[in-house]
Amino acid sequence: MEIQKVLETMAEKTDQVLAKALSCQDPDILPLWDAMRYSVQGGGKRIRPALAQLFCRLFGGSEEKVLPYAAALECIHTYSLIHDDLPCMDDDDLRRGRPSCHKQFGEARAVLAGDGLLTYAFELAASNPYATASDNNRAVILLAQAAGPLGMVAGQEMDLAEKQPTPAFEWLLKTHRLKTGAMIRCAALLGVLAAGKYDDAQAVAAATAYADAVGLAFQIIDDLLDYTESEADTGKSASDEANDKLTFLRFMSPGDAFDFAVCQTVEAMRAILPFEGNDQLTCLARYLLLRTK
Ligand code: IPE
Ligand code: IPE
Ligand code: MG
Ligand code: MG
Ligand code: MG
Repeated sequence: MEIQKVLETMAEKTDQVLAKALSCQDPDILPLWDAMRYSVQGGGKRIRPALAQLFCRLFGGSEEKVLPYAAALECIHTYSLIHDDLPCMDDDDLRRGRPSCHKQFGEARAVLAGDGLLTYAFELAASNPYATASDNNRAVILLAQAAGPLGMVAGQEMDLAEKQPTPAFEWLLKTHRLKTGAMIRCAALLGVLAAGKYDDAQAVAAATAYADAVGLAFQIIDDLLDYTESEADTGKSASDEANDKLTFLRFMSPGDAFDFAVCQTVEAMRAILPFEGNDQLTCLARYLLLRTK
């Protein structure tokens, strides 16, 4: 099956779980839940849920067990986008082809929608009815480490840093690995966990190596698309230049940045080579490299 079709099917499954999880209609708090639903259900490639599902599949796990973890990943990712777009952060008005959460619902509610999605994610993972309490405990720890102040939030902190006269390439690599790579690694590891292979050192090492390489490539391509594509095409504001962000393009030409992403993609493919049934993850790495949004 073509990778686009695989991703579409996986996104539908994730979306079904998300729709159920986000169905609260309490009139007193409806604006909060409407803002949460608006941001989650407003599109998005659902790459992190797909990674969890594909690694679960690669290692022989059941789909139902990974889906609550996939939904939790998407809630945390969406929260990170809502807060990333705030005026005090990247100040971006367009997200997933629509006004950003704070443009649609106001800043205060966007902050709360992000808070709500982040904390709700832990509830979803901790109460996965198809997994054991011990697996759910491990899932919560993985999510907290990836999202928290030594993971994605740490990357966002480094991304905020004052412009340095001579920025170090190492700084940029660390920023990208944290702000984007940490959640992508977490997605792969949650797939391994749901497949019951978290004690299998070879499986964990392969998923980690694949996700780290794909994660770095993903943010390099994100930097490139911010520069090359129109907002109409990506569905989100292009603001790196205006915000004077440290991106790959500060260090190399677009062509060299793309080549760097190609090398990471090859590394990712190599990491899963020993495992039978690796074709969909191989195609995913290539698809993410060649994406235009
Ligand atoms: C955007 O992530 C933010 C980054 C970490 C680069 P995605 O490109 O996965 O955004 P959606 O979920 O498809 O909107
Ligand atoms: C942010 O990176 C990654 C997050 C943790 C949200 P960017 O700021 O480049 O993401 P986009 O381009 O706004 O999606
Ligand atoms: Mg940002
Ligand atoms: Mg941004
Ligand atoms: Mg970007």
